[in-house]
Amino acid sequence: MFSLNFVAVLSTLALVSPGHSYPSNVKQDSSTSSALPVCGPVVQSCQCPEGNIYSSVSTYGFYPATAKDVQSITASSFSDLSYIGLNVTNSTGQGFEIGSSRTFTLDWDASIEPISVTEVLTTYNEYPDNGGFNMTWDMGNLPFHYTRPNGEEATVGGFWSYEELRQVGDYSFFLWSTWSCFGDVFDFSGFHELVFHRIAQILKEQGKSDGSIIGLTTTG
Ligand SMILES: *[C@@H]1O[C@H](CO)[C@@H](O)[C@H](O)[C@H]1NC(C)=O
Ligand SMILES: *[C@@H]1O[C@H](CO)[C@@H](O)[C@H](O)[C@H]1NC(C)=O
Ligand SMILES: *[C@@H]1O[C@H](CO)[C@@H](O)[C@H](O)[C@H]1NC(C)=O
Repeated sequence: MFSLNFVAVLSTLALVSPGHSYPSNVKQDSSTSSALPVCGPVVQSCQCPEGNIYSSVSTYGFYPATAKDVQSITASSFSDLSYIGLNVTNSTGQGFEIGSSRTFTLDWDASIEPISVTEVLTTYNEYPDNGGFNMTWDMGNLPFHYTRPNGEEATVGGFWSYEELRQVGDYSFFLWSTWSCFGDVFDFSGFHELVFHRIAQILKEQGKSDGSIIGLTTTG
């Protein structure tokens, strides 16, 4: 029963995801002669700013819990990231108002000091029937400059994320994609998986699941 749902979701994903599939013709570094558009919220063949590396990471899996249970963890408001242990130092907007922002700092070994990231909510839709939502957000404090441990200056061109939670049978399907232009490699897949596992752990602590994630997959 479950495996049928699983296949159904994957094929749905393939069908509905042209807006979220991987660019087929991505350049790692810019060259001034290219006619490709600058990378941004639309997933398409694109060009990162000079000195930036393109990356695209997508993570998905199923929790044996309802979408409403998962939503109550992930979605109290755009600015609440306490469930993953991040301290939001500044936020604007209420709930999931479009344009809401959240600012937090992250350790990154490519930078001599922690980087401050402001994320801005760009779309948010709730699925009315069984709970769940989809949303997009991006990095708002651009252009972002940082200093490498060797003293070189470098930049972040931005990142863009799409997240979707919906109920599939007795399970919740959760998907998170991030595409980005960074001056050095950033471990988005590790960050995604940390969040997926954290949600599983909270569901278990709340007695709403056995703590498993079925079919956890990260690509990119
Ligand atoms: C968040 O803030 C609390 C209280 O100030 C602090 O104990 C904790 O270490 C901070 N966490 C991070 C990840 O900075
Ligand atoms: C908080 O974030 C908003 C939006 O990014 C910004 O306009 C404002 O200056 C920030 N406030 C502080 C105290 O940093
Ligand atoms: C997000 O949800 C809305 C409302 O259900 C829907 O119209 C839209 O197509 C969804 N976006 C994606 C990328 O699936």
